[in-house]
Amino acid sequence: MSKVLTSRVDRLLSSLGYGSRNDVARMGRAGGITLDGAALRDVTSRIPVTSDLPARMTVRGEPLDPLAGLVILMNKPLGVTCSHKEDGALVYDLLPQRWRARTPTISTIGRLDRQTSGLLLLTDDGDLLHRIISPKHHVTKTYRATLVRPLDGTEAALFASGAFMLQNEDKPLAPADLQVISDTEALLSVTEGRYHQVRRMFAATGNHVAALHREALGGLSLPDDIAPGQWKVLNAQDIALIFQGDDDPASVM
Ligand code: URA
Repeated sequence: MSKVLTSRVDRLLSSLGYGSRNDVARMGRAGGITLDGAALRDVTSRIPVTSDLPARMTVRGEPLDPLAGLVILMNKPLGVTCSHKEDGALVYDLLPQRWRARTPTISTIGRLDRQTSGLLLLTDDGDLLHRIISPKHHVTKTYRATLVRPLDGTEAALFASGAFMLQNEDKPLAPADLQVISDTEALLSVTEGRYHQVRRMFAATGNHVAALHREALGGLSLPDDIAPGQWKVLNAQDIALIFQGDDDPASVM
């Protein structure tokens, strides 16, 4: 049987961004924390940290935030940056402000350019992050690219060749799959995450990407009901979809 972790309430809430341990102690004394419907005033007490805690604990009348180990799916809008510290609008601004004070920190799993929209994952789980971005697991990233010029029909074979080189790189790109939708629109699935990869691939063919939107990561697609700027916390089944088709047992938790 796996051992259930316990934590002091003040440590747990502080790690979830609810303030310092003193702030949490004050909140507890004022009756702002409940567990199973009863006020929890002694925040130095230890409680089991079980996955049902957000359903059993409230803080200032609201359910407890998701525990550590969360994975967020966001529909990244245009014009926001995947960075903790750059100027301007950041993807983290779209999450509850309190989540910025969480430890471990929430980070994006890979990055999308400021002018790329679509499926972006964020997590505080470093192992999962590395499993998803590691080339070993071949997690496919599927992008819808809208192009300035019509495709000339040679791109699919070139991208699939495994011999296609980008400028200033010394290793060819892994084979990528291109599905042509129309003269100026295509779905491109890549397994690597090189800098501005999709834009550079089309640029190398003499074209230019006018709009780029990520639709899927592995078997996980961006749901239709998540509007740009919206997000949701994923469950274990959603997360397993990311690794669908990967036969490495270490990829699935
Ligand atoms: N490739 C790009 O060029 N930009 C992105 O944001 C993602 C992939």
